[in-house]
Amino acid sequence: MQIGVYPGSFDPVTLGHLDIIDRASRLCDHLVVGVLQNGSKYPMFTLDQRIRMLKKVTEPYGNVDVLSFDGLLVDFLKQQDAKIVFRGLRAVTDFEYELQMAQTNHSLYPEMETVFLTANVQYSYLSSTIVKDVLVHNGDISNFVPAPAIDMIKQFRR
Ligand code: PNS
Repeated sequence: MQIGVYPGSFDPVTLGHLDIIDRASRLCDHLVVGVLQNGSKYPMFTLDQRIRMLKKVTEPYGNVDVLSFDGLLVDFLKQQDAKIVFRGLRAVTDFEYELQMAQTNHSLYPEMETVFLTANVQYSYLSSTIVKDVLVHNGDISNFVPAPAIDMIKQFRR
């Protein structure tokens, strides 16, 4: 049984994230979406809200779980008995950081591999940071965030 982990902050989940979840879930038997607990000091959404949104949008997937983690990603991998990490690559600007993370993780845990999925062109400009900026200015996020998460976001920000 091949278990994969798709880690991130997901503050909030975007259509780009969901596209990677969809594709990664076909490449392994079981996919764990790992939500980093203490990434940014000032997340817009609490850990619980980020997890609730992810659980809602991944409901249709029978082989996807959403869990939080804290500390090193490689420790979370070991806990989950997973050896594959999935990450999305949008543009060359993502590359340096992603390469550094993949090499650090591999050095800490040589049995693991990072698999990069190239972002769907349709979402290559999209990031949680952009979504938050649009939200702060009361813009329309319907092209950026999965539909089931939109109502939740409205409710959380009331
Ligand atoms: O979506 P993000 O915020 O770019 O995801 C970054 C994440 C969560 C994958 C990364 O920050 C992470 O794995 N943090 C856990 C700490 C860790 O393992 N650090 C060492 C490797 S860089």
